[in-house]
Amino acid sequence: MGRKKVLAGNWKMNTSPEEGMALLQALKANLHPTDSLVVYVAPPHVQLQQTVKLLREKSNFYVAAQDARAEASGAFTGDVSISMLAAMAVDAVILGHSERRLHHQETDAVVNAKMHAAFAAGLIAIVCVGENLEVRQAGNHLGHVWEQLNASIQGLDSKHFNDIIIAYEPVWAIGTGEVASPEQAQAMHQHLRNQLASVYGSDAEEIPLLYGGSCKPSNANALFAQDDVDGGLIGGAALKVSDFHPLFESLKKV
Ligand code: 13P
Repeated sequence: MGRKKVLAGNWKMNTSPEEGMALLQALKANLHPTDSLVVYVAPPHVQLQQTVKLLREKSNFYVAAQDARAEASGAFTGDVSISMLAAMAVDAVILGHSERRLHHQETDAVVNAKMHAAFAAGLIAIVCVGENLEVRQAGNHLGHVWEQLNASIQGLDSKHFNDIIIAYEPVWAIGTGEVASPEQAQAMHQHLRNQLASVYGSDAEEIPLLYGGSCKPSNANALFAQDDVDGGLIGGAALKVSDFHPLFESLKKV
């Protein structure tokens, strides 16, 4: 069996409850994910409940939170814990998104603690990595992103290879309209896959590697056609079914 393909929509801090509901209904009506092409939807926390409820009976749709805290409970005003997500039947959690790393000073060590907490709670961890423009221009991106990933997933056990998805999101491409070329994406994904295999063994090659950063219908075919690109983590183009559906179709074709 080949690697699983994954299309994930990260709504970020967008959509009113009504807009979120309308989007979910449109996704449910138009997208038909399968065992080998699954779809994740990551709404804002306050819409997780309605999302779980709406998508529950449709298989191969999964619900992800955009972040959560590793500690199960405690004096962390404003935060939500991973075990709280598990209790509401959320399937997955995005960890280490560059916007969390930037605005909330999340380090690789924090991301790593969250990954282990996610596994302990029975959640899938969607771990994000990516270099900024300065690193890319200096030509150090391959080494830099692997270091970031290696530190973020320290202690990953082979029994959790099915519980992790990795997203490569170059910071310079997120929400900028600037997209990595298919060759740039493939080079990074191949590097990460090789490194994963050399550290964790060849079974780690099955871990899905998603690309994220200004992915849209006009560039998706070429990105998804790359051997080591197993799907996408989509921001802006996840907010309209007229954009997200063509991405799903692109991924289905390859
Ligand atoms: P955009 O698709 O809007 O560039 O966002 C990508 C992203 O950050 C998904 O997590």
